[in-house]
Amino acid sequence: MTRAVYPGSYDPVTNGHLDIVERASSLFDEVVVAVLINKNKKTLFSVEERMEMLREVTAQWPNVRIDSWHGLLVDYCREHDVRAIVKGLRAVSDYDYELQMAQMNHQLSGVDTLFMPTNPIYSYLASSLVKEVATYGGDVSTLLPASIEQRLVQRLGEKR
Ligand code: PNS
Repeated sequence: MTRAVYPGSYDPVTNGHLDIVERASSLFDEVVVAVLINKNKKTLFSVEERMEMLREVTAQWPNVRIDSWHGLLVDYCREHDVRAIVKGLRAVSDYDYELQMAQMNHQLSGVDTLFMPTNPIYSYLASSLVKEVATYGGDVSTLLPASIEQRLVQRLGEKR
């Protein structure tokens, strides 16, 4: 069985992420969407909330699992017999840093990273921008599943 991991912060999951999940799920026997915990990064949603949202919006793909990890991604790969890391590339500007991480991860563990070009309709999409737009009342309804948008608007309201 060939297992891949699609790591990220997912704060929150967007339609851009889901496009990659769907395409990766057709290439691998199993895709683990892993919420990577970075204690230095302030997030709007807790790890549990992010995982719950991911579970909800990926339920349609039976070979997709949700997990979380604190530490190096390559250690997750080693412990869970992961053969490939999947990353979405939105634009050339993503490439430099992603290439550096891919080469470091390969050097550390031998695990390869597969870059998947983002669907052009999502090439500008980032969770951070979605949060900023929603904070000021902008319409993000085409960028997120409806249930995630609801939770985002609710959370931003609670913070006000
Ligand atoms: O959604 P993000 O925040 O852009 O995802 C970045 C992430 C979590 C995939 C990246 O920071 C990562 O892999 N972190 C795990 C820690 C790690 O392995 N660092 C060394 C990378 S070479």
